Amino acid sequence: MSDSIKVAVRLRKPSNLESDSFLVAHVQSDTSIDIQSNKKDEHKRFVFDHCATYSDDVETDQEQFYSLLAREYLLHALDGYNTCIFAYGQTGSGKSHTMSGTTLNPGIVPRMCQELFEVRNLYELSDDQVHPQFSIKCSYFEIYNESVRDLLGGCRCKVRERADKTTFVEGLKEFDVFEVDQILAYLNQGNSRRVVGATHVNEQSSRSHAIFTIQIEQRETTPLGHILERKSSIKLIDLAGSERANASKTTGEHLKEGSNINRSLSTLGRVISMLAKSKRPILIPYRDAALTWVLKESLGGNSKTCMIACVSPCDYEETMSTIRYATLARSVRTSARLNSHELSDGREQVQVLRSQLEELQKALSQVENHRAIGDKMEKINLTNQFLELRIEREQSLAAKYYDQWIEAADSRDKLMQLMGGIVTSVQGAQVAGTREKMQLLKGRFIEFGSKIEANCSDIQSTVKVLNSNQSALLPKATDESH
Ligand SMILES: Nc1ncnc2c1ncn2[C@@H]1O[C@H](COP(=O)(O)OP(=O)(O)OP(=O)(O)O)[C@@H](O)[C@H]1O
Ligand SMILES: [Mg+2]
Repeated sequence: MSDSIKVAVRLRKPSNLESDSFLVAHVQSDTSIDIQSNKKDEHKRFVFDHCATYSDDVETDQEQFYSLLAREYLLHALDGYNTCIFAYGQTGSGKSHTMSGTTLNPGIVPRMCQELFEVRNLYELSDDQVHPQFSIKCSYFEIYNESVRDLLGGCRCKVRERADKTTFVEGLKEFDVFEVDQILAYLNQGNSRRVVGATHVNEQSSRSHAIFTIQIEQRETTPLGHILERKSSIKLIDLAGSERANASKTTGEHLKEGSNINRSLSTLGRVISMLAKSKRPILIPYRDAALTWVLKESLGGNSKTCMIACVSPCDYEETMSTIRYATLARSVRTSARLNSHELSDGREQVQVLRSQLEELQKALSQVENHRAIGDKMEKINLTNQFLELRIEREQSLAAKYYDQWIEAADSRDKLMQLMGGIVTSVQGAQVAGTREKMQLLKGRFIEFGSKIEANCSDIQSTVKVLNSNQSALLPKATDESH
């Protein structure tokens, strides 16, 4: 659903110091305001969605401003739309008075918290069996000198972009709230931690942009038995005030703060003027300032947004600048969507969860494979390193052994030569000795042979004698046989 940023102008009551000053702004009706310079007689009329003036009854002013303008945004949020209200204007123009107010005269934020819990309690006390179950959370952060600080959690945060191009504050703590006192306590705690300082027109000037967010989740069972879920957020923003450095005669740290505030507000102005074009450019400089980056959706996306332009009654230049800004913002179109849907029944959810589980298991096994491969690679690398060391050591050992081998071969050759000489001389002496022994043995052999021959002839003659003696002694063989 296409929506335009709704713009309301709120004229601040003149302070005691301004009681004698020329009044440059006059609210003519609840939708128009006249601005007039003290130098010229003529005035310019501007029309907005809502214009509010002041009265002596500050309490009633606050109450009326809330019910005529801000309540609508609580109702949109209860329907399931994201909403945003931001207060813009020069320093001292009444932004903090409008958004936070005081304990006696509370502003939009505490009133909205109060009503939200009243609505919730009404539902809970009703006899209606199908009333929604509420879950309410809050968070609070500030942007000071371009850095984001969690006013409830205490830490520094970063603005990040999601895959769907929406932005969020990473690390911001969200607190569950069950009673109105709890949410108001968080609001007060955050307010007390906000950076404040004095400017030429405001003793208690907010030096940071403060963003209080309420997250609402409602679940109800429809008459058909389906569960309807509605989610919405309400962003309530009190911007730091713009100021002209030369007008406020600022120096040092205060000047740095002031220039950061002015830079982020001028980026906001640039973003708004680009969003206001009938043919919206593709590149909007949201990222140029933390404020516009964080408010990306609220300014040009899924949100019903309202700008409250706070104006001072006696500063023509600043009031005109704010009015021009506000006129531009009126042309910005947003595209708020109902963030509600029916929850599917159990079986479908089981199916979805099962397929998610399968995907996760697949992813996990891939991760494990990668891890196993990584482990193996590590082991291989370690083994390689070990082997390289071994090779190196063995190469140096081989070189050492080669040297030793060369040395040993040399010594061996020398020894062989020496041995050769010795062997030759030893062999010559041995041959001569052997030959001599052979001659001696030959002589002995011949002598031994002749002795054997002599003995043999002696034996033969003895045998002859014996044979003859034997035949003489034996009887005649023929006689005896008869
Ligand atoms: N409508 C009003 N009726 C009565 N008093 C008001 C009104 N608006 C603002 N004031 C008073 O004017 C003073 C400055 O207002 P406030 O602190 O809200 O300004 P601011 O825009 O937040 O300034 P800054 O940018 O410096 O933070 C406060 O004392 C506040 O009470
Ligand atoms: Mg302020």
